[in-house]
Amino acid sequence: MTFRTIIEPFRIHSVEPLKMTTIDERRQALRSAGFNLFGLHSDDVLVDLLTDSGTGAMSRDQWAGLQRGDESYAGSPSWFRFLESVQELFPFRHVIPTHQGRAAEKILFTIIGGPGRTIPNNTHFDTTRANVEATGAVALDLVISEGLDPATPHPFKGNMDVDRLEEVLGSPGADVPAVFVTITNNSGGGQPVSLANLRAVRAVCDRHGVPLFLDACRFAENAWFIREREPGQHHRRVTDIVREMAALADGMTMSAKKDGLANIGGWLALNDDDVAEQCRNLLILTEGFPTYGGLAGRDLEAIAQGLREVVDHDYLRYRIRSTGYLGEALIAAGVPVVRPIGGHAVYLDARSLLPQVPALQYPGQALAVALYESGGVRACEIGTVMFGRRPDGSEQPAALDLVRLAIPRRTYTQSHIDYVIEVCSEVAAHARDLPGYRIVEEPRSLRHFTARFETVPAA
Ligand code: F0G
Repeated sequence: MTFRTIIEPFRIHSVEPLKMTTIDERRQALRSAGFNLFGLHSDDVLVDLLTDSGTGAMSRDQWAGLQRGDESYAGSPSWFRFLESVQELFPFRHVIPTHQGRAAEKILFTIIGGPGRTIPNNTHFDTTRANVEATGAVALDLVISEGLDPATPHPFKGNMDVDRLEEVLGSPGADVPAVFVTITNNSGGGQPVSLANLRAVRAVCDRHGVPLFLDACRFAENAWFIREREPGQHHRRVTDIVREMAALADGMTMSAKKDGLANIGGWLALNDDDVAEQCRNLLILTEGFPTYGGLAGRDLEAIAQGLREVVDHDYLRYRIRSTGYLGEALIAAGVPVVRPIGGHAVYLDARSLLPQVPALQYPGQALAVALYESGGVRACEIGTVMFGRRPDGSEQPAALDLVRLAIPRRTYTQSHIDYVIEVCSEVAAHARDLPGYRIVEEPRSLRHFTARFETVPAA
């Protein structure tokens, strides 16, 4: 007998209280934060879906690992446990630990980027794009066209457009030091990339002699989707699928704050000895010695254990189903979302929900502010606020205006999610009354973190 209800494959061991706030308190908090949800005190947030990065709950065995953490400066046993755990899944020759994913990006792009160069990706995430552009290189997004249409169902909407990649790599004078594939494609809706697509990308890279890197933050969720959706994969262990993805690549960047199930950490891994040596030299300048690289020994232990837990099939089944549960309930309530539902998050299509708000008045921001004001739910705009400012200073609408409800791993229960469904449905019902926003203060890059906004009164 198998039962229908998919339950959390764990029970709660330690709890964190949540503070209830009134709508007036939340309005005040919004004003103080300049209507930027990154500016809130997180105590004033009831259900925090800003990100799935570093916000998950660690397991008993991870906490036990913290006690085993050995803080030797060089050659700590915690480092060797970390290394073994990483190479078990990703057998690259060099593994370079960093304090989080963007540090790995910064180091790698400093070495391989630079003016005149282009880095193709299915879709760069914000820090990845910023790190590429900071070197003067161009960050080029080449996701398949279905990946840009929130409503089109496709099992692997994160796939790269292989024909366009071929064109870019084959064009005269192309200077492409690496091709990246982000698994799963975060900016495009948490959508997976198929093994078939990775193989095709690999073949194009081989024809042009360009290395392939994975931005592997959500590798286990991607592998689960491959197991569920790709013909011929259903019988396989997730660990085997992960190893096959790794074998198709020459290196990876990783944020252990996602599928490392840790609160901090990351790494850069690669096979090229010469690039690895240059990266290690930079690592020593900015992160630390190559056997800890910006992490405490105890963090290395938490990641080593997290990597064993994240490929567990019961965990992944629950993880992907619980995100799907939220998405399907919103679809049933008539709320437009990116389909199919992604792995770590549900993405609301703000542009279609708020047609009265032009893209340059930030429909995603308007929707995210309303979710917080109405129910204390904090989400993240992934749209024109995040991506609208171009390196030349001009502003253009982003490809999509989405609001991401990212689900921290092993943290919220089904009743928290039922509450989120109720808040989203209520806000969606009145979405056409919501005002747009204008930016009154912004930094030169990565403006979404610190910009301040005010509402634009309806015309
Ligand atoms: N690549 C992807 C696809 C990411 O989603 C992130 C982080 C990074 C790289 C950088 O990793 O945060 O450890 O430096 N994404 C988080 C998010 C912040 O909210 O999606 P990091």
